[in-house]
Amino acid sequence: MNTDWLGLDGRTAIVTGAGGGIGRATSVALAKAGCRVGLIDRDAKNLQETLAEIQATGGQAAALACDVADPASVEAAAAGGMAALGPCDILVNNAGLLRPGPLESLAFAEWNALLAVNLTGYFLCAQMFGRQMHGRGGAIIHVASIAAHHATGFGGAYSVAKAGVVMLSRQLATEWSVHGIRSNCVSPGMIQTPLSQSFYDEPGATERRSAVIPTARIGQPQDVADAILFLASPRSHYVNGEEIVVDGAFSRNIMSFIPRVGYGTPSGGGRDV
Ligand SMILES: NC(=O)c1ccc[n+]([C@@H]2O[C@H](COP(=O)([O-])OP(=O)(O)OC[C@H]3O[C@@H](n4cnc5c(N)ncnc54)[C@H](O)[C@@H]3O)[C@@H](O)[C@H]2O)c1
Repeated sequence: MNTDWLGLDGRTAIVTGAGGGIGRATSVALAKAGCRVGLIDRDAKNLQETLAEIQATGGQAAALACDVADPASVEAAAAGGMAALGPCDILVNNAGLLRPGPLESLAFAEWNALLAVNLTGYFLCAQMFGRQMHGRGGAIIHVASIAAHHATGFGGAYSVAKAGVVMLSRQLATEWSVHGIRSNCVSPGMIQTPLSQSFYDEPGATERRSAVIPTARIGQPQDVADAILFLASPRSHYVNGEEIVVDGAFSRNIMSFIPRVGYGTPSGGGRDV
């Protein structure tokens, strides 16, 4: 029986934002699938927790403290990853932050700070770790967001940056297919992580949010990790320049918000208003 359906055993994977919710779940899942995992984050404490979780189950990983918005820091992490784990086969671009604010008054520094991590950081890591894939092949997975396609009012530069990530991914697929490198996106919807936890701390928020998601629950980091592992695997070899949306059909649910009589379901699941 083939127990390595994904075919990831023995590969070197780098995950940015590995100290956070989606990054940690992805790093642990890649290690369980047999990858050596380079863990990148600028939060050293959370990075060590992810490392300890992987090592506790016998997985192989290395912590690479790094600020993805700083070219010198990414270059050092790429060299450190190569020395500790060998050349990168899989890059998961995931480190990101949320900084809300109305565009009317958004400070120049706030705009630049978000783009530096959420867009430029993705480019820097793709370029520096991608160079280790040239001539050998590889897979790059960028964690974008449904916000790439749907404007987030008062969301500062977040949607703009995520839209840029989707196009960065397509451009990389176009330029680097000749090197055997694939580039794809995973776009999460509402996922409960440290980044979004404050939304769920509000009483009733989980129920109100779940009510607008057809799958009727909030996503968990593992839901996103599972899609990332598929795109990292040779099982998705002919999928390139694409995007998997992981949102329980939330972004396909817009017709349900039109007030109209007679469109409720017998079970009461629709909105018959
Ligand atoms: N949680 C959601 O609902 C959701 C939805 C859509 C997209 N996303 C995206 O998923 C990705 C991961 O988000 P999460 O929810 O796991 O967040 P998280 O805050 O739990 O994790 C993000 C991690 O990135 C790290 N990080 C931030 N800036 C960094 C930098 N400059 N250099 C290195 N590391 C840095 C943080 O320290 C943190 O550990 C982000 O790109 C986010 O935009 C999240």
